[in-house]
Amino acid sequence: MFEIALQTHESCDDLLTEARPGLASNRIHQGDCRTFLKHIKDKAIDLVVTDPPYFLDGLDNGWRKGGKEAPRATGTVGGLPVGMKFDPAQGKALQQFMSGIAGELIRCMKPGAFALVFSQPRLSHRMAIALEDQGFEIRDLCVWHYTKRTQFKAFSQNHFIERMDLPDWKKRQIIAEMEGLKTPQLRGQHESIILAQKPRQGTFVENWQRWKTGLMNADASLDGSRPSNVMQVEKADLAERGVAAEHLTPKPLRLLSHLIELFSSEGQTVLDPFLGSGSTAVAAQSLKRDWIGIEINPTYVALAEKRLADAMI
Ligand SMILES: C[S@@+](CC[C@H](N)C(=O)[O-])C[C@H]1O[C@@H](n2cnc3c(N)ncnc32)[C@H](O)[C@@H]1O
Repeated sequence: MFEIALQTHESCDDLLTEARPGLASNRIHQGDCRTFLKHIKDKAIDLVVTDPPYFLDGLDNGWRKGGKEAPRATGTVGGLPVGMKFDPAQGKALQQFMSGIAGELIRCMKPGAFALVFSQPRLSHRMAIALEDQGFEIRDLCVWHYTKRTQFKAFSQNHFIERMDLPDWKKRQIIAEMEGLKTPQLRGQHESIILAQKPRQGTFVENWQRWKTGLMNADASLDGSRPSNVMQVEKADLAERGVAAEHLTPKPLRLLSHLIELFSSEGQTVLDPFLGSGSTAVAAQSLKRDWIGIEINPTYVALAEKRLADAMI
């Protein structure tokens, strides 16, 4: 665990504690971020951009025949049938999972530094509470908006009506009455990004003078206008994703680059404890930021390494 998987260019500072000496930045660290984050020094990180697992699946596998599966040691998630997906326990488990991580993040971030944390919209309140309870100030709830058509997942109840213990004519009658009615699942066209900030030391000016954090670069723009909390960037299609398509949920580089430009400066260090296919690292590298990536799945580590190597050519 936690072998250094890649070094793209020279790291500047040693950001790891004496318990785990060694260079940390511009490397992917393979392992569980809940353990690795503890080795990052206090007040070492300038920006966090991360996209944790969404916890919509796999938190309770008790529905499976034969009873519950052993709890997953990694924090990764599996699959649930549609009917189980609105279990409120999912949100509570996400909050609990993120709470310990948020505590480590705020410790290792500089005063005034920002954390941009992606979240599925319907669980974003739990994510925000996890961050706020650990001392972050929730400054905004940004929206990543994409117009590309996504799958429409709402379904009719006909299948269940057919299975009801009723005469056939009655089933036909109910089906006719409920024509056009579907489960309340709107087509997804956005994801939430929580903008959280570690409290500043003193005024904006005092904090900036000491830490070079706490203010945004108002010239960063997606479309030529002033930066907004609605960020419209299309999802890349499979061809555009290249090797990143081997990961289920790669985020668009354009969006990550915008977030990094808005909330950090050249030479600063960007941390992503859920690196996935390496998108944050690729964007940070191209913008001349140092970065630290943590990813639990060795297959994704290898994929991220390949993307970073390709991006340097
Ligand atoms: C939503 S994906 C991130 C996708 C990434 N933003 C990208 O563009 O490729 C979340 C990632 O977190 C990883 N992960 C889950 N639990 C983890 C943990 N405890 N420590 C480190 N990584 C973890 C998963 O393997 C997955 O690749």
